[in-house]
Amino acid sequence: MIRLDYTFMTAPAVAGGLTDAELAGAQPAFAAARDATARRRERGELGFFGLPDDTQQVTDCAAVAVWASDRGIRDVVVLGIGGSALGPIALRTALLPSGWNLLAAAQRGGRPRLHVLDNVDPATMAALLDRVELGATLFVVTSKSGGTAETLAQYLIVRGRLEEAGRAARDHLVFVTDPERGALRRIAAAEGIVAPAIPPSVGGRFSVLSPVGLLPAALAGIDVVALLAGAGAMRARCEAAEWTANPAGAFAVLQWLADTRRNLRTQVFMPYADGLRDMAAWFVQLWAESLGKVRPDGVSVGPTPVAALGATDQHSQVQLFMEGPNDKTVTFLTLDRVSPDLPIPARHQSHDDLAYLGGHHLGELLAVEQRATAGALAARGRPSMAIALETLDAWHLGGLIMLLEVATAFAGELYGVNAFDQPGVELGKRFTYGLFGRPGFAADLAAFDHLPRPDPSRVV
Ligand code: PA5
Repeated sequence: MIRLDYTFMTAPAVAGGLTDAELAGAQPAFAAARDATARRRERGELGFFGLPDDTQQVTDCAAVAVWASDRGIRDVVVLGIGGSALGPIALRTALLPSGWNLLAAAQRGGRPRLHVLDNVDPATMAALLDRVELGATLFVVTSKSGGTAETLAQYLIVRGRLEEAGRAARDHLVFVTDPERGALRRIAAAEGIVAPAIPPSVGGRFSVLSPVGLLPAALAGIDVVALLAGAGAMRARCEAAEWTANPAGAFAVLQWLADTRRNLRTQVFMPYADGLRDMAAWFVQLWAESLGKVRPDGVSVGPTPVAALGATDQHSQVQLFMEGPNDKTVTFLTLDRVSPDLPIPARHQSHDDLAYLGGHHLGELLAVEQRATAGALAARGRPSMAIALETLDAWHLGGLIMLLEVATAFAGELYGVNAFDQPGVELGKRFTYGLFGRPGFAADLAAFDHLPRPDPSRVV
């Protein structure tokens, strides 16, 4: 079960919190957002809703996992960026044992190590390529568009290494890409490279429950059926007509009200579990790239998501959350049950500053610290809410993913923007193409050349 407790977003629990009248008054806006989302879904625009029912993708990913196992693959390297990388990273951190890549093969149940290269820093890529044994490595090149510069540059480097080593490309490459469009699809078709498809109506940051996330997960032995089942169960809960009964509706409405009625524009996402650390990075991309937009009337909108980690950030950002500008909400992410928990031995009983810890458990300390932090924030008039997962497993993670994806769709409607495009990232891409001499981008290079240059008198 997944619960969303928003007591501390509201008055009188938190001074200045949202009032009953504001909460009730949001229902018509939510109803309109829910209806608009349903219409887009009916038009086939929001493919992520359908992913929990897509059993074919499970079969396809399982088949690739068997093929890789038969071929003795010991390292899987995902090449991708943005939505094509953050989902696989979040799944790996949440659902594989900590330190997976450091475990011996037997401790991994014979499953491969799982690496995700989500940047084009040559130091990182060179180090990984030098570390893995090429003959026992599978590269999963993931790009919805099949045309992303960073991913294709990584691919070309891998391709070069494979050719230098005399390895057949299709023995070591799998592409995850659009079913028809893009360079990767064309190469896959020409060379017989296995290439599971991302449904065209599933956008990059909404793609973790497609082969983008499912294939790396299946290769590493994660229970992808449970992941999709949890997502399906949450999808059903997110159909509710009243936002107060709808977890995604509640999350979207509360964040939107906090932003637009209280100017709480920074929205912190703070898991209290190392396993959920990368879910925060995944959420930050989802929320920021979906909602930070220019509305049709020309007004720029969108909350600023910030990732934090409990209890680590209690010794860092929480000072700012407590005493800095009161312009934030905090969403805690908690686990009801951690297993196995670690007992804290009762030692040094004569030292009061140690004795109180003994006899408790580490997970208990983490949970108490989260409650203490929420309480401390509330005492200072700083609103927060908490999403609680009964435990951290594939079913609950699938549910959490679906909750946040549906919330993003609702929030897009509430803010009056299209949550499913990203026009703001295009200009930088075009300048890059122009600077790299890509045919067709000379005008962009010229536009770039007209931009102000660094002024030496302003460089220290
Ligand atoms: O959410 C998005 O659409 C983006 O973040 C993309 O995932 C990112 O730009 C990578 O795109 P692609 O998968 O086409 O290589």
